[in-house]
Amino acid sequence: MKQQNEFMFPSEFRWGTATSSHQVEGNLTNNDWWLAEQTGGYIFENQLSGQACDWWNRAEEDFDRMAAMGQNAHRLSIEWSRIEPRPGVWDTDALDRYRQMIVGLRARGIKPMVTLHHFTNPLWMVEQGGWENDQVVGWFDRYVRKVVSTLGNDVDLWCTINEPNVMISQAYGVGRWPPGKRDFNAAIRVIWNVARAHGAAYHAIHEILPGASVGLAAHLMKWQPGRPWLFFDWIATNFMTHVFHHLLLGAITEGVMRIPSKRVTNIPEARRTLDWLGVNYYQRYRIRFNLRSSGTLFVDVGTKPGAITGPGLWGEIHPQGLSDTLTILWKRYRLPMYVTENGIPDEHDINRPGFIVTHLHQLWQAMSRQIPVLGYYYWSLLDNFEWTEGYNPSFRFGLIGVNFETQERHMRKSGELYADICRRGGLAQQSIAQYTPELLPLLFGA
Ligand code: FCB
Repeated sequence: MKQQNEFMFPSEFRWGTATSSHQVEGNLTNNDWWLAEQTGGYIFENQLSGQACDWWNRAEEDFDRMAAMGQNAHRLSIEWSRIEPRPGVWDTDALDRYRQMIVGLRARGIKPMVTLHHFTNPLWMVEQGGWENDQVVGWFDRYVRKVVSTLGNDVDLWCTINEPNVMISQAYGVGRWPPGKRDFNAAIRVIWNVARAHGAAYHAIHEILPGASVGLAAHLMKWQPGRPWLFFDWIATNFMTHVFHHLLLGAITEGVMRIPSKRVTNIPEARRTLDWLGVNYYQRYRIRFNLRSSGTLFVDVGTKPGAITGPGLWGEIHPQGLSDTLTILWKRYRLPMYVTENGIPDEHDINRPGFIVTHLHQLWQAMSRQIPVLGYYYWSLLDNFEWTEGYNPSFRFGLIGVNFETQERHMRKSGELYADICRRGGLAQQSIAQYTPELLPLLFGA
């Protein structure tokens, strides 16, 4: 077979990075993550998010960096607790600031994708039960209508909610995130409310902007049985895949929620409410059935000894998992997709260049099999506040490093590599030879 010397993507492909409000803006003091900081016990060394990357004041400096890197897209999120500091009360200055940012991106040739909810919730909403309160559907609808009718002239690509599967499992399943619950019934209630809130937002956006394209970003891992010869590990893997990946996606595509061992619930208002599916892909985990793990529904999640993993419980770095995941999702949902997040915590930028190249290579393979993927957003442009890991140095995701004392930026080698890829529109042999020569045999043969 003839070897090729480049892997090019379609000319309209979106090359971007992703960020989220709480992780970069700074001085957010009206949401549940701020409350968690005050409570203590949630975040690495009880750190405070503080100024973060000071985007509220200096986002444009980083927009210049994105433009210089050749990016034509960026995914950012709007902070609900800023826009609606009290129920039904709007902060028009905050809306103006977001409009300024979006116009600033567009002026630099960067198409915005706007996420309406990225993990954080306004305090007033949390005080009334947060996502467990069925009224959340109306609250979210009201907020979405306000944002979309204000910013809609400049944004046509909307992501309703980021990784609801992570938010629900962390906040209501294992209790590591605020409100710190371990309550199966609460989790089920929240899944139902999230599906309905997403459905309401989808219809509201289309009502205001008929031409808009609306999706949701799901966190999709590659799960594999820890002991492939053990039937129970397969059952556990299928169970996890259903609950974590497909329960919510089923609800917002078919309009049906299938909770294991419960009656099937119909949610007709959430049926067919995805124009595209956002895939946040990071890692692979091995699943083992364990009778002693009753607290985690008899499932242990781990890694294979010797595998290349990220820090802590991060999981295995496994590029092929990206193309496998896209293939499964395409067969099942037949929706166009964006890779809305993909990245690696790597302060010293040792594995990141190779991570980017191998994952884009897998993405190219999937697209060459006619799987429609419209864009790729690397997580993240900058080092930032990483939720429970706070500013833990082991959890630096940026193409650009940040000194949080001085707000200085430094471009990493992987940032230069990504810029080269964005400018060329794909992976060229010359770039691989320059940045990751060890990958030449894998991509281009000996
Ligand atoms: C994803 C989140 C994002 C960031 C990355 C590392 O799960 O959506 O905010 O924390 O992980």
